[in-house]
Amino acid sequence: MAKKSAFVVVNFMTDGEKDFNTMVVTPWEVKGEIDYKKLVKKFGTTFLSTKEITQIKEYSGGELHLLLRRGLFFSHRDFDWILQMLKKGEKFVLYTGRGPSGHTHLGHLVPWIFTKWLQDIFNVDLYFQLTDDEKFLFNQKFTFQESQNFAYENAKDILAVGFNPEKTHFIFDSQLTKTMYQIAVEVAKRVTFSTAKAVFGFVNESNIGMIFYPSIQAMPCFLPSVLQGKNVPVLIPAAIDQDPYWRITRDVAPKLGYYKPAAIHCKFFPGLAEGGKMSASEPDSCIFTTDDPNKAKKKIMRAFTGGRATIEEQKKLGGQPEICNIYWYEYYLFEPDDKKIEKMRSDCLAGKLLCGTCKKRLGEKVKQFLADHQSRREKITKEMIDEKIIKT
Ligand code: TYM
Repeated sequence: MAKKSAFVVVNFMTDGEKDFNTMVVTPWEVKGEIDYKKLVKKFGTTFLSTKEITQIKEYSGGELHLLLRRGLFFSHRDFDWILQMLKKGEKFVLYTGRGPSGHTHLGHLVPWIFTKWLQDIFNVDLYFQLTDDEKFLFNQKFTFQESQNFAYENAKDILAVGFNPEKTHFIFDSQLTKTMYQIAVEVAKRVTFSTAKAVFGFVNESNIGMIFYPSIQAMPCFLPSVLQGKNVPVLIPAAIDQDPYWRITRDVAPKLGYYKPAAIHCKFFPGLAEGGKMSASEPDSCIFTTDDPNKAKKKIMRAFTGGRATIEEQKKLGGQPEICNIYWYEYYLFEPDDKKIEKMRSDCLAGKLLCGTCKKRLGEKVKQFLADHQSRREKITKEMIDEKIIKT
């Protein structure tokens, strides 16, 4: 079977108004307008269906998290299998992660907020990997010490999300010990350079640490099985950019006698600028968890919207919620009430709502969100993080 490349480059030459567009989605780069239908096809994942979504309701008392109900989580690999195994009495564990290259932004929080919801409703363990080695290896400007420091900073945000402290375990790559290193080496032996090149696009100039690294990100998929001495299903909530890792991990799993990890993918939470995801490489388009809440509100006031050039035009033609970041922030994260979000949309379309009003409303919500997050974050100590780091 032909190997699929992580470098998905699609030309939309025939896509009506979007005359020409190029999308790139890799674990390190997300560029251009994303067509999720094409991405799902290219990556070979499956859209979440009402069947799985209805099944989750059985565990969540009929409620669905907004991120699922409104479709930010949209695709999966074997999530249906995870639910079947659960029915048979085989409980899964959750695995997710962060590459500590800077401060945490709202886009990073999205999969973590959803992961916490999954942990709460299924009452399961969570393995959280901080890949301070990855960020050091993939960024020439970064020192190892810098990425290790950011790992601790990011871990404060992770714990501030409110994961169950009894059931949450950290893997800090710079502190890997015997069992974890052994699993990574077992994985590495079963992935050829040609596969790594095809999946990740490595070139002659890639350093050899980068080439080994995917086996480190694969390792936590098997760690729970090794620790529990039996095969344990693993479910990975993350944005779809991380999927190339799961593709190679799933190829290796049967060779090592483990279950293939399952994944549930989200789309990218947008940045504050026009188009594109929230990304730390565009700091002005980010709301960081460490931002002063008043400053964050000011960022929102400067955000790109679907507004028209003048108030008169806006009143006459109506706004364009489908391209408005303010609207999408409300839709996916900040306005759970379906009636209110629909009114926001229809009033905008009818020209009854002006961008300044929407920005102020969202600015206040984000300000409160950050103030709450920061008050939990400042209570997290290094000791609280250290005691959760796996040392086996
Ligand atoms: P990193 O640090 O790039 O991203 C951390 C998590 O945030 C997701 N993400 C986003 N989700 C929604 N909207 C956005 N704008 C956005 N930007 C980032 C990423 O998909 C990720 O889930 N290599 C990984 C670290 C890692 C990992 C894992 C991630 C190790 N093991 C297991 C997920 C699952 C990385 O650098 O993530």
